[in-house]
Amino acid sequence: MKSFLLFFSVILPFIRAQVPHWGPCPEPTVQQSFNLKQFMGRWFEIAKLPAQFERGRCIETNFTLTAGNSIRVVSSEILKGELRKIQGTGVVEDMKNPAKLGISFSYVLPYSPYWILSTDYENSAVVYSCTDILRLFHVDFAWILGRTRTLPDATIENAREVFASNNIDVSRMIPSKQQGCDKYL
Ligand SMILES: *[C@@H]1O[C@H](CO)[C@@H](O)[C@H](O)[C@H]1NC(C)=O
Repeated sequence: MKSFLLFFSVILPFIRAQVPHWGPCPEPTVQQSFNLKQFMGRWFEIAKLPAQFERGRCIETNFTLTAGNSIRVVSSEILKGELRKIQGTGVVEDMKNPAKLGISFSYVLPYSPYWILSTDYENSAVVYSCTDILRLFHVDFAWILGRTRTLPDATIENAREVFASNNIDVSRMIPSKQQGCDKYL
């Protein structure tokens, strides 16, 4: 009964927010020799594949390494004029592929994949998350992150090419609103 309720209250809206794609998740290549420490700190959301549960603007995430190599993840957004924060936990899911992180924002939910496909640590990052549903179809999320609230068009174009070269469809990707944010801080 509990898992039934969980499905309808948590998982179903999550699935409905996205257009599921047939077939299993793509298997993108991730950042080689990923340096977790250099990836920590503040990242702004520049563009994303639409996700209904993220309707705010000025979305940013602050990653901090904590003891025991776990990662504190604090995401914030401005929604209806209010600054909202949620805290989650990140882990390296695959030591052989340290760019394959998992992030969870609730202790009742499993870690969702959070794969760094590419980053230069100092300017931008290309992040992908995909979950197989019975290997029949998959739902995915994709983000372009920046160390600043805006990135040059060429950087965004390169990031889109990283997705495209890994067979990830980002035609529905939309720019995130990062205007008029600093007055809230
Ligand atoms: C990020 O988190 C660290 C550790 O909690 C904190 O010291 C830092 O001020 C935060 N940065 C921002 C921009 O919120």
